Amino acid sequence: MSDLPAVRLFGPGLSDAEEFALERDREDPLADFRSRFELPAAGDGKPRVYLVGNSLGPLPRASRDAVAAVLEGWGREGVDGWFTPPDPWYEIDDRFLVSLGRLVGAKRHEVAVMNGLTVNLHLLLATFYRPSGARSKILIDAPCFPSDRFVVETQLRWHGLDPSEHLIEVGPEPGSSLVEEEAFEQVLAERGEEIALFLLGGVNFLTGQRFDLERLSAATRAAGARFGVDLAHGFANVPLRLHDWDVDFAAWCHYKYGNGGPGAPAGLFVHERHLTGEPLPRLGGWWGNDPDTRFRMQLEPDFVPRGDAAGWQLSCPSALAMAPLGPAFEMLVEAGTDRLREKSIRLTALLEWLLHRWLPATDSEDGWQLLTPSEPGRRGAQLSLQIRRDARGVRDRMQQAGVVADFREPDVVRLAPAPLFNSYHDVWRAARSIREAMDMSHGIPGATIPGSRSALDDG
Ligand SMILES: Cc1ncc(COP(=O)(O)O)c(C=O)c1O
Repeated sequence: MSDLPAVRLFGPGLSDAEEFALERDREDPLADFRSRFELPAAGDGKPRVYLVGNSLGPLPRASRDAVAAVLEGWGREGVDGWFTPPDPWYEIDDRFLVSLGRLVGAKRHEVAVMNGLTVNLHLLLATFYRPSGARSKILIDAPCFPSDRFVVETQLRWHGLDPSEHLIEVGPEPGSSLVEEEAFEQVLAERGEEIALFLLGGVNFLTGQRFDLERLSAATRAAGARFGVDLAHGFANVPLRLHDWDVDFAAWCHYKYGNGGPGAPAGLFVHERHLTGEPLPRLGGWWGNDPDTRFRMQLEPDFVPRGDAAGWQLSCPSALAMAPLGPAFEMLVEAGTDRLREKSIRLTALLEWLLHRWLPATDSEDGWQLLTPSEPGRRGAQLSLQIRRDARGVRDRMQQAGVVADFREPDVVRLAPAPLFNSYHDVWRAARSIREAMDMSHGIPGATIPGSRSALDDG
C-alpha cells in the first residue's frame, strides 16, 4: 500500500478517517460546482453518491432553463426560431465549438457536434477507411465496446471483406487486464502494410485503462495507416491534445463526463490537415453543405461541403437536444481541464487507497482485483473492480445504501468519481459501502470496518 499514488499525493496526513475526506472537500477549489447539479436522491431525499458519470452524467441545473428557452422560442416564433436572435437554432451547433475545441485540444474548425457516437464513427470510417489492395485491414483493441466492434465488422462487410480475415484485435496478455502500447506498436511494425486503419478506445470502457494517444498516433502514421479514436470514456475525463497528437479523427459522446443529457448529440474531430485542398470523400447531407448556399437548392444544387469538421454533418440539429450542451460545456471550461484533472487524480487515488485498506485481500478467495492501472497517467477517473464473489449483488447492495455504481457482466463493478460534482466524502462513503456490501455477500453480518488509521500506521 505504501507505493499507491495516494500516499505520494496526500503525504503523511493521509487517513481513512471521515474527517480527512471532509477536510479535503473544504479545501477543494472546485467544490462549489456540485451545487450546480441535480443529483439523484435516495429514498430519504439526500443525494446519492453518484459514481456513474462514466455512464450518464447528472443534470446541470442550468440545462433545465436552456431546454425551456428552446421550447419557449418554438412556441413563440414557430419556424422563425431558426433565425431569430439572440440564439437562432440555425447556428446552435456552431455555438459550442470554441468551448469544445478547448476541451479536446483542437481548433474550432476541427470539431463538430452531431448525431450519436456510433453514427459518427460510421461517417468517419466512410471517409477514413478506404481499403486499397493489400492495405485493407482494421486494427482494434480488445475488449472493444460492442458498438465499435459492430461498426468495424459491418464496415468491412460493406466493403465486401470478411472480418475474420480483415479484423486484427490486440488484447491483454493472459493473466493481465491491460494492453501495453508496445503490443500495438509491434503489430503496426510487423503488419503495417496490411493495415488501413487503427481504431482505438482512448480510455477502455471496461478496465478504465488510458492509452498514450500521441505515441500510438505516431506509430500508426509510421505504418502508413490512419489513426482514429473513440473517446466515449476520454472526453472531459483525461487530458486531450488531439490536434498536437496528430490524430486523424476522433468521435465521442457527451452524455458521460460531458453531462450533456441522455443520448446528447455527440462530438467529432477531424484533423485540419484533412480539411485543406480537395474535400475528402464522405457521405453527405445538406447540413454539411456550405451554410451560405444551403437554401439555394434550385440555384446551386451541388453539394459543397463546409471546409470544417461540420462538413460531415447530415441533418439539421435537434435544438432541444443541443440546448443542454451549452451550460454543460461552459461549466467544464470554467472549471478548467487542468484543475479537473488534478482533482480527478486525487479522488481516484483516495478511492483506490481506501479500497486496498478496507476490502478483503486481493488474493483471497473472497477478494477482488483492480483491473485499472494504478499509475494515474494510465487511467482517468474510473476504477474497475473485478469481484470474485457475487459482484452483481455487491453493486445492488451499494445501490440500496445510496451509492450508485455500475456493473458489467460477468463480475466487474465500475466506480467513477467525477471531479465536477463528486466530493472526497463521496469517495469515502463509496469505499465504506462496497466494503459493507462485500461483507454481506460473504455472509459476515454486521462486520465492521477497521478503525481509522493514518498512512503512517502502515509501517
Ligand atoms: C466506448 C463506447 N463506444 C461506443 C458507445 C456507443 O455510443 P452511442 O450509443 O452514443 O452511439 C459507447 C456507449 O456507451 C461507448 O462507451
